[in-house]
Amino acid sequence: MNQSIIIAIDGPSASGKGTVARSLAKTLGLHYLDTGSLYRMVGLTVQRQGLDPNDEETVAAVAASLNPVSYNDADLRGELIGGYASKVAALPKVRAALLKFQRDFASQSPGAVLDGRDIGTVVCPRSDIKFFVTASVEARTQRRFLEMPGSDFNAVKADILARDERDQSRQIAPLKPAADAIIIDTSAITAQQALQECLRVILKLRANGPLKTQVSERGGGTKRTPRR
Ligand code: CDP
Repeated sequence: MNQSIIIAIDGPSASGKGTVARSLAKTLGLHYLDTGSLYRMVGLTVQRQGLDPNDEETVAAVAASLNPVSYNDADLRGELIGGYASKVAALPKVRAALLKFQRDFASQSPGAVLDGRDIGTVVCPRSDIKFFVTASVEARTQRRFLEMPGSDFNAVKADILARDERDQSRQIAPLKPAADAIIIDTSAITAQQALQECLRVILKLRANGPLKTQVSERGGGTKRTPRR
């Protein structure tokens, strides 16, 4: 039986989920996958090849032949490709083409942290722990605005709202907290505080025994134990 731990972290754009997920994985010694980057890779390919982002068969073929190691992070970040990503992410066949890769990644030993929009609801509904990391639109806009020198605050806000709307209203795997997700609102806390809050929750759950891993009080490293 696979004893790996899976931590799902979902949330909207610029909520801080990626930062929390990456640092949580590092602290706990787990693998980390930013699933948004997969949709961004598909979006970038579609944009570069001048394909129609709404042509489901064509975009699904791009997703099926994706080679995640061949993409440069600098090409992927940015709102242009974020917009393409959220368009292609609404296509059921594209989501299906990316599912196996995500599930295989999640099942690696000793475990993995995955962040995205549908990890706790669709990709890994049996995750050991699910966090939904969110923040006010103002706080999220401010973060993106500071990351993009020379940008216009209102334009950044409009992009975030448009992407929220598209991700929440799509038919398949819409952005929403899983029923058993723990909500972390990062509007008024730092990334470090968000990490500490997640670790506090994990330790508390661990005290009740449902996890397959031991987390030390200092947050340093993990030790696998049999599932109870
Ligand atoms: O970094 P940011 O939060 O802006 O976005 P991202 O996580 O890189 O995701 C880009 C887009 O991919 C999102 O707006 C979603 O439409 C889509 N996505 C998704 O549908 N499902 C996921 N598990 C991850 C991302």
